Amino acid sequence: MENLGGWKRSLYVGELRASNIGDEVTLMGWVGRRRDHGGLIFIDLRDRAGVAQVVFNPETGKEAHAAAHGIRSEYVLAVRGRVERRPAETENKDLSTGEVEVIVTELKVLSESAPLPFMIEEETDVAETLRLKYRYLDLRRESLQKKFILRHTVAQSARNYFSENGFLEIETPVLTKSTPEGARDYLVPSRLSPGNFYALPQSPQIFKQILMVAGFDRYFQVTKCFRDEDLRADRQPEFTQIDAEMSFVESEDVMVVNEGLMRRVFKDGLGVELETPFPRLTYKASMERYGVDNPDTRFALELVDLTDIVRGSGFKVFDAAADSGGLVKAVNAKGCATFSRKDIDTLTELAVTYGAKGLAWVKVTEDGWQSPIAKFLSDEVKEDVKSALSAEVGDLLLFSADRAAVVNPVLGNIRLNLAKRLELIPEGTLSFVWITEFPLFEYDEAAKRHSSLHHPFTAPTDADIEKLDTAPLEVRSDAYDLVLNGVEIGGGSIRIHSSALQAKVFGLLGIEEGEAEERFGFLLEALRYGTPPHGGIAFGLDRLIAIMTGSESIRDVIAFPKTQKASCLLSEAPSMVDKAQLEELFLRVKKKPEAATKP
Ligand code: AMO
Ligand code: AMP
Repeated sequence: MENLGGWKRSLYVGELRASNIGDEVTLMGWVGRRRDHGGLIFIDLRDRAGVAQVVFNPETGKEAHAAAHGIRSEYVLAVRGRVERRPAETENKDLSTGEVEVIVTELKVLSESAPLPFMIEEETDVAETLRLKYRYLDLRRESLQKKFILRHTVAQSARNYFSENGFLEIETPVLTKSTPEGARDYLVPSRLSPGNFYALPQSPQIFKQILMVAGFDRYFQVTKCFRDEDLRADRQPEFTQIDAEMSFVESEDVMVVNEGLMRRVFKDGLGVELETPFPRLTYKASMERYGVDNPDTRFALELVDLTDIVRGSGFKVFDAAADSGGLVKAVNAKGCATFSRKDIDTLTELAVTYGAKGLAWVKVTEDGWQSPIAKFLSDEVKEDVKSALSAEVGDLLLFSADRAAVVNPVLGNIRLNLAKRLELIPEGTLSFVWITEFPLFEYDEAAKRHSSLHHPFTAPTDADIEKLDTAPLEVRSDAYDLVLNGVEIGGGSIRIHSSALQAKVFGLLGIEEGEAEERFGFLLEALRYGTPPHGGIAFGLDRLIAIMTGSESIRDVIAFPKTQKASCLLSEAPSMVDKAQLEELFLRVKKKPEAATKP
């Protein structure tokens, strides 16, 4: 192992081009593939900019050539040599450095590498758990490096955009009080106040509102949020928000500024020009047409409401749903009458996982309806259903009948499943849509009380304020989510800026005065001292980058992500702590502690 000994790198390996031919260069990087032809040794040297071929020839560098025999994968080298054009037949058109090679005169082995737990290759079937344990090796892959370079570009572009538009980047605390965004808190015990805990922020929500009270007018931050919730491909326990808040604005103003943000980051990150304004869809329309509030609008296959058509049809499943205030809806899977019994069973199983009791189906054939429910329906009803769904011979119609809270997610997910299977999703399309006018509250059956669809600081629309007392579930909020290709990438709202209204909303949420005071008293108090009307938004940076890089999971765009069990396989966090440390915090672990189960 050698030190640099005064050597300075002249450029990145991946930057070598034909224009460098004739240059004497010093390169530093990792050893990828190595071909030892006895006389000549070829090594692919790699750094974050790319790969280039370096050649060890005993005639031009005797010592270097001798030492090169001992070089293995992932050794770190510094080489000096001359850039030459590759012999015509050995040019590599797939490589940006492929026209040239470096004929090595001197070599320093800066670092050796232990034998690798897996090869560093683009196409890999190595288990993710092993790759996460050796994340630094996994991250050496070019495709992953590119994702992080894009992530940097986008975060930087967002900062520039906000800064140019008068937003100030202000940090908010990480050791703080609970912010209600609907997840469990991560708690941090206080040593100085025994028995008291900080909560890590689920978002900077309360503090950014207080910054508006403080008069900063426009704030942004690229910041970590922490939520102890069940993890999925698009959820991590710690993730990054691009968070913003503005004073003296209405929802339209916030949406326009953030359409500008999207235009800017897609231009800087991917060179893509987006068209704005993005389409807008009310929550109600989104549920009706797509069954979900994060619709993938890259394809149609919309849900059709048949409740009024089939009401009183005589088919008990449909009648029961229609008569009890539920819905009967369907999708038309065009050309899918060829689906086998097994295909339909698989779709039914999917429906059941979303709460359905069944999935009625109809194959439209030359000889009429082939369906277990055909016998229950009159010709007239069949004709109306057919025309409502624009059904033709060869189509497969799939029906769900139940409460809206079942029918919509069932068919919404059937829709997504069919789209993938039928390859209806055009590649490379970016389909943005704002979802607006969410209900302010939903009814939490388990807790027997109202809860906020977003967070409790979201303002009701002016038009619905009067209904707060009479029909709270009908009140719409002045909130907006931005959905891209079926993923909620951001969400925000106009906030309540009156402490009286805020107290009233807490009341409707069943948060009693004492509890509100205890949990959010500092916000309620701040709101009393001259609060401008304000609103904002937060984007999930990880989700945005995952879409921009075509990644399946946000784990791919987080340098050191956590597993499903919220553990870090690299550092082995979470882990047990010393007894002394616990004592200092006045904590005792009740159950016999076990090492965290992995992964
Ligand atoms: P919300 O809770 O909708 O709003 O969060 C904003 C955005 O953050 C992303 N996101 C996540 N990304 C990865 N892992 C998670 N666990 C996770 N949870 C959320 C989503 C989401 O759209 N304070 C409000 C914003 C506001 O009102 O201004 C808030 O946090 O992309
Ligand atoms: P049954 O009369 O219960 O055998 O149901 C006849 C058909 O209706 C079967 O294909 C079931 O899958 C379907 N079905 C049952 N319950 C529902 C429901 N809630 N929504 C849609 N289809 C259903």
